[in-house]
Amino acid sequence: MQEQRDMEKHKTIHLKDYRPPDYLIETVNLEFDLDEKRTTVKSLFTVVCNHDKCEGIHPFVLNGKDLVLKSLKLDGRPLAEHEFKIDDHSLTLLPVPNRFVLEIETEINPSANSELSGLYLSGGNFCTQCEAEGFRKITYYPDRPDVMARFFTTLVGDQAKYPVLLSNGNLIGSGQLKDGKHFAKWHDPFPKPAYLFALVAGDLARIRDTFITMSGKKVDLSIYVQQHNRDKCAYAMESLKLAMKWDEETYGREYDLDTFMIVAVDDFNMGAMENKGLNIFNSKYVLAKPETATDADFQGIMGVVGHEYFHNWSGDRVTCRDWFQLSLKEGFTVFRDQHFMEDMTSPGVKRISDVNVLRVHQFREDASPMAHPVRPESYVEINNFYTVTVYNKGAELIRMLRTILGPAGFRKGTDLYFSRHDGQAVTIDDFLKAMEDANNTDLGQFQRWYAQAGTPELQVTRAYNAKTKTYALTIKQTCPPTPGQPAKEPFHIPVAVGLLDNYGRDLPLTLDRGTDQQADSSTIVLHLRKEEETFFFPGVPEKPVPSILRHFSAPVKVKSDLTDDEHLFLMANDSDEFNRWDAGQQLAVNLLLNLVKDYQHGKTPKLDRNFVSAFNKTLVSGMPDKAFQTVALSLPAETYLADFMHVIDPTAIFEARRFVQKTLATELKETFLAIYYTNQDTGPYRVDQASIGRRSLKNICLAYLMELDEPGIRKLCMEQYRNAENMTDRVASLATLANFDCTERSDALASFYETWKHDPLVMDKWLSIQALSRLTTTLNTVKLLMADPAFSLKNPNKVRALIGAFSSNTVRFHAPEGEGYVFLADQVLAINTLNPQIAARLVSAFTMWKRYDEKRKALMKAELERILAAPKLSRDVHEIVSKSLA
Ligand code: PHE
Ligand code: ZN
Repeated sequence: MQEQRDMEKHKTIHLKDYRPPDYLIETVNLEFDLDEKRTTVKSLFTVVCNHDKCEGIHPFVLNGKDLVLKSLKLDGRPLAEHEFKIDDHSLTLLPVPNRFVLEIETEINPSANSELSGLYLSGGNFCTQCEAEGFRKITYYPDRPDVMARFFTTLVGDQAKYPVLLSNGNLIGSGQLKDGKHFAKWHDPFPKPAYLFALVAGDLARIRDTFITMSGKKVDLSIYVQQHNRDKCAYAMESLKLAMKWDEETYGREYDLDTFMIVAVDDFNMGAMENKGLNIFNSKYVLAKPETATDADFQGIMGVVGHEYFHNWSGDRVTCRDWFQLSLKEGFTVFRDQHFMEDMTSPGVKRISDVNVLRVHQFREDASPMAHPVRPESYVEINNFYTVTVYNKGAELIRMLRTILGPAGFRKGTDLYFSRHDGQAVTIDDFLKAMEDANNTDLGQFQRWYAQAGTPELQVTRAYNAKTKTYALTIKQTCPPTPGQPAKEPFHIPVAVGLLDNYGRDLPLTLDRGTDQQADSSTIVLHLRKEEETFFFPGVPEKPVPSILRHFSAPVKVKSDLTDDEHLFLMANDSDEFNRWDAGQQLAVNLLLNLVKDYQHGKTPKLDRNFVSAFNKTLVSGMPDKAFQTVALSLPAETYLADFMHVIDPTAIFEARRFVQKTLATELKETFLAIYYTNQDTGPYRVDQASIGRRSLKNICLAYLMELDEPGIRKLCMEQYRNAENMTDRVASLATLANFDCTERSDALASFYETWKHDPLVMDKWLSIQALSRLTTTLNTVKLLMADPAFSLKNPNKVRALIGAFSSNTVRFHAPEGEGYVFLADQVLAINTLNPQIAARLVSAFTMWKRYDEKRKALMKAELERILAAPKLSRDVHEIVSKSLA
């Protein structure tokens, strides 16, 4: 029996088994009587058969979880027990008529909901989270995105405790009731799947503004937050208005309701949620003022506000048929928010940071036992598939389509997609079909990007024929095997290239064949379709240096035979900002990997003079974009370096990086100091590009200087900490101090705590900074911090800030005796029952275990096995652990 239940619990769902629903819902009437422990939900839906005839043939199966069924009526008649079947995840009715009204009353307990899915409490207020499968924790319902209905929602609650009552759409009524209660009635005119349903009830401050749409309609904008946060909403509101305008200009998309609401809650599993007309946000992505939020926080807010707003079209008006199509809305919407932020900030720097996320996290996922295609073929727990592959690689696929079709062709495609599928639940194939039809082209081969997992690798070789003045680039593509996919078919890969002459100028380009290749004369997009192809460039007057994969035109790894000198040349001259940066990164990767070997062989490391002088050149270059200069001065991340190693050695990587940082600091101390001083903020704090760039450059100089481990520099750092008028500078100084065992460290940490202990988002920074410290005492500190009032195992932000951050502190997490692993496994087990989604995210730190040395491998494996053997393991954790061990 137990075994059978486990089988059911860990059942694999396959895309190939998709069947349209047997029944559709036309309208839903919900009535909530809100109570912290016993909320009653009365629902009434009109159900219609989705076949010619259903009667007596198809059972009507509704999903339900953690519900107490109070009453059940069909067309007004109470159903007797033999007329339905009920188990712990469903309610089945048979037989039912072709069209009927179903009335269900359920009781739920929001205060016991620690999974934060369904109806739950955060800070004493009610809120919901229904994506992907949370609505079934509210009432019995066919909880799948291809069932779309018009919702009417009535909320009843205590007027003093919950003066604000919100749901999707427009407010159509409100008033007093007896016993100090009141009600509000909402109607959403757009049919939607249950995952986009939301309600909020609480004592909240409201910040208001308006937006006039391109057709002249006035939209009321509101942000709801806890009363004490009302001074932290201005930036989110400005971001919202910018996003609304941008979507009109860039995609021709206009907002469709009279009101748009954002609510911030402190307890939230993800970043935010695009519920129709009522977005619910993790407060991290709403609340900000200069004293509490860093530049990165401000940018995160604008990006996430944009992301959720853009979902109104790419997700809500046109939604997904099933969860295998998740990237239809997420990949597309991430691309939209990335592009929005490129337009609002510095496009090159934004692109670099997005590629960094892809390389560090998605390439890793692609190389792990959890590797899956952007459109997965199967899953056990859908919550485990909200991944960097579905989101960020998915966004890269949309970006490639735009490169292939050109901006105008891409826009024709999105226009057709939105008009053709408005109000429907569709598939990725439908999206591609709209792109094809609008552009009269064939994307058959491109579809493989959605079906095949793994990161393709390009091997590029070149040849110059001085006699014929012809240059040839030969590109070979391969893709490593991934679970269930031993061999891959070649992809259609757009490779943007430029050729630089001896002076570093772009050569004007033509290709000798086909009209298929596009060029803006200095950058040409090669369409690699076969396993190996050679592209010929005629009329090239001298042997050029190639700039390959400009702006990272495809999510691939490139191997070329470019020399260090050529990388230096590109770093100094490439007209493509991304490749200028990437050339420097590749140099640094080569250098660091050599140092790693030295370290492993016990050799005394030496820093290459050419590297120091190239670094110095960047440092003194006085680039106009200081944010770009900062990323150009940043060494590749430890996890990115690990990707290049057959057997990952976290200690050697850590030591090699530190050696380079310290040597650069020693050799260039005066320059770092001079730049530090000339880039101080004057005047009030501003979040514009120039100010952000200046602060980032100044703070990276400080971080290098701190490597010197000198009292004078520590004093300087402490001064910055004390005098900082904004959180960016304060956190920058605190984070670097946290790496050194000194009195300044403890003084600054203590003072930070005293100043900010009342502000949870700021305390998250305090927790992370300590969890990321490279001190050998870090694990102990983390354990102590778990008992601090600033921490709670129940709050996802806190768990991420402390435990999540520790698991990304590679050198400490991978401590050779395995104490970091034991700690993480203990926490996974503790959180497993509280919040399976969060536990599953934490346990993912173990998925790469096979890439480490024998000793670490065995230690990690033992922890995975210990977790797997634990009783009551959630489906979420079970799926990741069992796939990792397979
Ligand atoms: N759909 C949300 C987004 O990306 C993410 C999310 C998924 C939030 C599941 C909560 C639960 O915009
Ligand atoms: Zn999204």
